[in-house]
Amino acid sequence: MKPNIDQSKILELKTESKLARKDDVETFPMPELQAFGKNIWIIDGPKVRDMGIMFTTRMMIAKLANGSILVNSPVPVPFDTLNRITELGPVKYLVAATPRHVWRLDSWHTLFPEAQLWVPRPTPFTLKKGNLPITGILRDSPNQAWADDFDQLAFKGNPLIEEIMFYHKDSQSVILDDLIQIHPPMKGQPFHNVLFKLEGVESPHGGVGLDLKLTFTHRKLARQSLEKLLSWDFDKLIIAHGPCIEKDAKQFVKQAFHWLMH
Ligand SMILES: [Fe+2]
Repeated sequence: MKPNIDQSKILELKTESKLARKDDVETFPMPELQAFGKNIWIIDGPKVRDMGIMFTTRMMIAKLANGSILVNSPVPVPFDTLNRITELGPVKYLVAATPRHVWRLDSWHTLFPEAQLWVPRPTPFTLKKGNLPITGILRDSPNQAWADDFDQLAFKGNPLIEEIMFYHKDSQSVILDDLIQIHPPMKGQPFHNVLFKLEGVESPHGGVGLDLKLTFTHRKLARQSLEKLLSWDFDKLIIAHGPCIEKDAKQFVKQAFHWLMH
C-alpha cells in the first residue's frame, strides 16, 4: 500500500499533532530506518512532550511472513524514509501497544487509510485524537495476521495502563513501549533529570517508573504477565523511550521488574 499524500504534507505532519504542540516537538536528525534483526527495523523519532516531560520516541517496523508490514508506535518520518518502509512491503497493520501512543496512529492513518488500526484496552490513561476507525483491541494472544511472527501479551495488573508486549520470533526480541524506560541526562534540563532520577528511570539502568509501580494494584495479575514475558526466549529488547538492548536483555528485564517479584 503506497502512502496517499505528498512530501510537503508529510513534513507538515511532523509538527501537526494537537497533543504534541509545535513547540513541544524538538528539531531532530532525519530519522533513518535501522535494521534491528531479521525482518525487524526501528526508527528513532523526535522528542515529544507528554505530561510536561520530554520523551525520546521510537517506532518498530516488522515484515510479516505473509509479506505485509506491521508498524508499532509510529513516529513522524520524512518522505525518503517513508518510501523505504513502503518498499519493504504493503503497510497493513498500524499498532499502538500502549494507551499513551494511540494518538500517534492518527497521522499514519492519514498516510495509510486502508491499514488496520489496533490498540490496547482503553483506560483513563489513553491518549488519543479524534475518532479513529479502530479495527480492534489487542489482547493477550497474537492476532491471526501476525501469529507466525509474534507472540504477545497484555501486561495486566494496572488499571491505568495495560500495555501490549510483543515477542518477535525471527530476531528473538521483545518489544515494549512504556513500562520500562531509560532516560539519559538531557542537556539544559535539570528539572527533567531530577525527575528521571526520582522516578528510577535514569540512564544507564532505567526501569519501571515509580508512578507506574505504585499503580499496579493487582500484583498477582502483574506477576502472571511477568511470568509469561520471562518465558519468552529473548536476548534483545526494543523500548520506545531510551536505548535498545542488543544482548542479555532478559537479565535486564528481570532487574527492571525486581520490585514485582517480592
Ligand atoms: Fe510512551
